[in-house]
Amino acid sequence: CTKKYLLNSGFYMPAVGLGTWQGQVGSNASTEMRDTIIYALQKGYRHIDTAAVYGVEEIVGEAIRMSGIPRSEIFLVTKLHSTHHAHVEEAFLESMKRLNCEYIDLYLMHWPQALTLDGNPTKTPTPPETWLSMEGIKKKYPDLVRSLGVSNFSEKTMEELLKVATIVPATNQVEVHPMLPQHDLVKYMNDHGILTTCYSPLGQYVPAILQDAHILELAKKYSCTSAQIVLAWEVSRDLVVIPKSTNRDRIMQNITYPELAPEDITFLNDFYKAPGMHRRLCQINGGTPTGHDIVMGWTYE
Ligand code: A2P
Repeated sequence: CTKKYLLNSGFYMPAVGLGTWQGQVGSNASTEMRDTIIYALQKGYRHIDTAAVYGVEEIVGEAIRMSGIPRSEIFLVTKLHSTHHAHVEEAFLESMKRLNCEYIDLYLMHWPQALTLDGNPTKTPTPPETWLSMEGIKKKYPDLVRSLGVSNFSEKTMEELLKVATIVPATNQVEVHPMLPQHDLVKYMNDHGILTTCYSPLGQYVPAILQDAHILELAKKYSCTSAQIVLAWEVSRDLVVIPKSTNRDRIMQNITYPELAPEDITFLNDFYKAPGMHRRLCQINGGTPTGHDIVMGWTYE
């Protein structure tokens, strides 16, 4: 999949990226993560999604430098950790140093909710205030950061941000998969020229999706896997996907999709409405708040 989208900042963003969310710091995990990223880049991925809080920025930077792929061909995303909303410049420069990759393509506010340095929720700075600090980074270091965006923003929180913003966020990264299609949120973002990126695009907290009989039937119809069906549906909606895998077969699967017939896209659009689906989702999550709860206002409204 070589699809790209034109961001409101004038830069292009590849539709498929490699997520690095489950990366852990630790010698084996580091080597595995680095080799995974190098493999993905050599097999055609041109977009890597990471975050300060994942603890793998140094590994991501090292992998990019070792891959042999020119920096200019790679779209690199990282995120401001919630503990640093009052210290945006410091956090940004630390990420730059760890990545050591000339510039960042897209810098995201990871969550609207600010935390104190020791990790407790705090009311200040507010998301609009943090956004203005991020705009300050873009103005002060225009060569070091190309586009700015947010993550885990609801419509309501975005509306507050847009009241003060002089730069409209290029993207909003939220949890999206067939059980959480986010139709309304995506429409709101589209109406404001903001691209949506899907995290957990395979629904990693909802294993039932990839094993669902109807989705498996579609996989049979298109001679591919259920993961490819789900990702193909998300990309058909003009969304960005950042599936994470350390398995080489799955890394290849996750960037190669069939083109789905309109009736199959409609089926997947409505998949979450199927009887019993919400009950299954709640049972699987066992009462633990998901990205959905947070986007819907569990953490910040
Ligand atoms: P693995 O790294 O062993 O491949 P998400 O990106 O939605 O958060 O999902 C990530 C999870 O899904 C990881 O546990 C990953 O495991 C698994 N995964 C990634 N790609 C595929 C795929 N093509 N088929 C099945 N599982 C996948």
